[in-house]
Amino acid sequence: MFQSLKCIGILTSGGDAPGMNAAIRAVTRTAIYNDIEVKGIYRGFKGLITGEIEPFKTNSVSNIIQRGGTILKSARCEEFLDPEGRKIAYDNLVKHGIDALVVIGGDGTLTGAAVFAREYNIPVVGLPGTIDNDLSGTDVTIGYNTALNTIVEAVDKIRDTASSHERLFFIEVMGRNCGALALNSAIAAGAEAAIIPEISIEKDQLHEFISQGFRKSKNSSLVLVAESEITGGALLLAERVKSQYPQYDVRVAILGHLQRGGSPTAQDRILASRMGYAAIQALLESQRNIMVGVRNEEIVYVPFSQAIKKEKPINPDLVKILNVLST
Ligand code: F6P
Repeated sequence: MFQSLKCIGILTSGGDAPGMNAAIRAVTRTAIYNDIEVKGIYRGFKGLITGEIEPFKTNSVSNIIQRGGTILKSARCEEFLDPEGRKIAYDNLVKHGIDALVVIGGDGTLTGAAVFAREYNIPVVGLPGTIDNDLSGTDVTIGYNTALNTIVEAVDKIRDTASSHERLFFIEVMGRNCGALALNSAIAAGAEAAIIPEISIEKDQLHEFISQGFRKSKNSSLVLVAESEITGGALLLAERVKSQYPQYDVRVAILGHLQRGGSPTAQDRILASRMGYAAIQALLESQRNIMVGVRNEEIVYVPFSQAIKKEKPINPDLVKILNVLST
């Protein structure tokens, strides 16, 4: 048991993800169940610096499991990149009697948390909260499943107009540099192709798709494009089609931030609840500077160094399945 674990601070940082509230609830209630005080830190690391910190009770997290976004708000905090900013943050932790932190966010959040933990020797546990599913060390991140379902619902709707007008649609989805959302939503929506950064370096996916005769016997085509400098994004691909293959009637839909909103799916709520519970168990077991992950349905603790700044390879079987099923 971690001797001085009397009070934890919790924050969400970076892009919000559906299920973050369920994670905040799980962390808060598991901590209180174990007689640990909880302080909510608002606006991510920014709130640590500005001192926007307040006690959380059991009912502070009532009626939030079903809500998207994050009740703690989120921010991308430049000042925290600076050692002086982190010193102020540390002083605020001490002032508020916080002796461990639970941070919920993506790669940037966990990178900041790892630096802070090392610098000030504070126990920190991270939860992977991002729609991108780009963190290695966990099969899935909080928010990914909801975003995937949101995308599929949108693509189903675009299909109606695409097929009515016999058009080629490029639908751009988020993911930073990760093709997981694009590839899996393409399979789930029965799209013709996915153009993803993990493959773009190896080959010209647009050329391949067109040269294989994308229309075949179909009267429309849907191509999911992962946002990324590597793929060039949907607008660039559409421009290429217009100039190189003018016979095609092409349109673009960029789904944007609607992918981050909405009520979390049951799967995300359960994942967030399991991970939030595990974060407190980890601290009680004196684990520190780890991210909670899930591998093959089991909770795992992954050192920050293995969770961040690493490539998360895509499953080549999924690429093959998409190719075969779209013939
Ligand atoms: O990391 C989550 C994410 O939604 C990415 O998919 C996207 O590239 C980025 O955040 C967008 O960030 P912002 O909301 O700051 O524009």
